[in-house]
Amino acid sequence: MSKQDDHFFNVFSAVLGILVAITIGLFIFARMLGGGMTEAHVAADPLLQRDVAARIKPFGQVAVAGQDNSALAIEPPSGAGSEPAAVASLPANGEETYKAVCSACHSAGIGGAPKTGDREAWGPRLAKGMDLLHQHSLQGFQGQAGYMPAKGGRPDLPDELVTEATDYMVEQAR
Ligand code: HEC
Repeated sequence: MSKQDDHFFNVFSAVLGILVAITIGLFIFARMLGGGMTEAHVAADPLLQRDVAARIKPFGQVAVAGQDNSALAIEPPSGAGSEPAAVASLPANGEETYKAVCSACHSAGIGGAPKTGDREAWGPRLAKGMDLLHQHSLQGFQGQAGYMPAKGGRPDLPDELVTEATDYMVEQAR
């Protein structure tokens, strides 16, 4: 190998080495610069902040007597006046209770339910006496025909409404 070739080889290797060193340096520099900025940018995202706030917000709030608790007011459901939702969704009387709850099974005789107004189906049941029919409406009843769920499957109903609904339904078959 000539002296010139030697010289070229040395210079060429040195240039390559410097270029590799610069590349690695730039890479590390870019990582340092960009890494920090990405995190700050993501954390400042208002959508992300809103989601995080929604996930970590307390699931209950306490109203303190003598303090301004207006921010805790329960929103009335739209169109239901100012009554709280649970009260607003209750039927007003026995007939409404029948229409809202009991008719689901008893108007068409679903699952073996005695049809409303069907004297033949209700006759033997009437013979049991109203007290027992009220009790079966409130507590549920497993008979030959099928399963009658307690309060028609609405445990939130007050007893009087279920009793009145029973009276209303039984009246149709007298
Ligand atoms: C999921 C369906 C279903 C709903 C809703 C339902 N019932 Fe019934 N009910 C039945 C079935 C089925 C029977 C018949 C059970 C049997 O005699 O085998 C029955 C029977 C009855 C009986 C007769 C019980 C007896 O001793 O013979 C009464 C009274 C009654 N239901 C009242 C009500 C009232 C009041 C409501 C509404 C609050 C209601 N049911 C809602 C399914 C239903």
